[in-house]
Amino acid sequence: MTITDEKIKEEFQSLPEDFWDFKLSTTHDLTHGLHSYPAMMVYPISRNIIKIYKKYQPIETLLDPFMGSGTVLVEGMLGNIPNIYGVDLNPLAVLMSEVKTTPLSSAQLEMIEIHKINLSKIKEQTIKVSDDFDKYVREELRLDITAKKGWGDSAHKYIDNYFNNKNNNYQHFMNLGFWFLPKVVIQLQTIKNFILHEADIAVRNFLLLVFSETVRTTSNTRNSEFKLFRMTAAKLLNYNPNAFEEYFKILNRNVEKMKDFMCYDVFHSSVHISYEDTRFLNTVPNHSVDLVITSPPYGDSMTTVAYGQFSRLSLQWLNLNDPNQQNVIDIDKTLLGGKPYCNKQQWALLGSQTLTETLGRIADKDLFRAYDVFGFYIDLDKCLYSISNKMKKGGYQFWVVGNRTVKLQTLQTDKILSEMAQKYGLKYLFSFGRNISNKTMPSLNSPTNEPGARVRTMTKEIIVVLKKE
Ligand SMILES: C[S@@+](CC[C@H](N)C(=O)[O-])C[C@H]1O[C@@H](n2cnc3c(N)ncnc32)[C@H](O)[C@@H]1O
Repeated sequence: MTITDEKIKEEFQSLPEDFWDFKLSTTHDLTHGLHSYPAMMVYPISRNIIKIYKKYQPIETLLDPFMGSGTVLVEGMLGNIPNIYGVDLNPLAVLMSEVKTTPLSSAQLEMIEIHKINLSKIKEQTIKVSDDFDKYVREELRLDITAKKGWGDSAHKYIDNYFNNKNNNYQHFMNLGFWFLPKVVIQLQTIKNFILHEADIAVRNFLLLVFSETVRTTSNTRNSEFKLFRMTAAKLLNYNPNAFEEYFKILNRNVEKMKDFMCYDVFHSSVHISYEDTRFLNTVPNHSVDLVITSPPYGDSMTTVAYGQFSRLSLQWLNLNDPNQQNVIDIDKTLLGGKPYCNKQQWALLGSQTLTETLGRIADKDLFRAYDVFGFYIDLDKCLYSISNKMKKGGYQFWVVGNRTVKLQTLQTDKILSEMAQKYGLKYLFSFGRNISNKTMPSLNSPTNEPGARVRTMTKEIIVVLKKE
């Protein structure tokens, strides 16, 4: 360790034990609050890491290789870092990060005001049309809007018949009616078509992000959960969302947050956002990164956080998924740990004694669960390799990780990560812990994908600090 390393370590370790909990901090101000996302990083974590690190080493380039909703990137801008890179394999995360890191000019804010005025002019008429259509579906066709069949799986048929949808004003995707009431489909589609007329790309993306949040709040999902669970039939029958009201409410909120963000000096960073798999990381130049701050997925989205499920309805409405909208790409299968890796012989190759021993104990109970777990770490190891290649010598990495439990065995990801990293010239320096209190993920989660069936997941996170040698 150099003298600077010692000093950085000393400063981090001199902080009070609960310093990193940020129990009382609000986490949704500025552009951080433009859209919800599972397991968002509590932003004071990255803000304080940047503040402390900057005292000792300059930061030319910051990278978050699992940027999610873009928390670290926004903090990089507020910290005046010249180059900022963010990568994610979820197209909704890419849209969110783009919008959150793109300050709008006053001319662009004016365009949004005009959009609001023009959209309100067609609000009453659209609501009338959507109410009539809703009535037609429920009363004339006598369809049960809570059933899986009929409106649930063939909404497009009824829409086409009613509206004579020759010019494809209404889009289709699988189970559209299962997730949206008849009137909501018509309202959402009208708002979306209106947004698409907006020529300015930054303004259009800003509005599409508002639309995405509106999709979520007006869908038939239970909004208290990040996974896709539908409301009960009894609840649905009395459910009466108004997409226009929701959209205007979220739009006004987001405009205020963007204005607050623009009061800060956030115009000096060059932000590069990519839709990419961090196992490859081709969009970030080699040997360019001074600082990485990131929180990787916990692995095993079935039992922890399902980014794909959370994003699916927005991706379908925004056509950010499969272009023909028939086959929904299961994003969760493409992310880290999306596939099992059935080769026991390779367990030791990752270079982590802790991992090899834990996999052995899991395999004694359930070999296939061990393969699942190994699939995650083999992917994480590939990311360590690719990220390591992007680092400048002497650069630091701060990894915020949680240690989940599989078959009653704790996966000590902090330790496993440090052990695996060594072979890529990444030296473990120190780590510190935090209690999860504000993080936007449920501490109670469904292990079986059944609504209501819940177990306690993680309540602590560990921040592991590595250095590129
Ligand atoms: C814990 S979240 C990051 C949350 C983020 N710190 C925030 O504040 O919103 C992990 C992210 O990793 C992304 N991810 C998972 N596997 C990936 C891969 N192979 N390449 C790039 N991103 C990936 C997920 O889509 C998810 O957005």
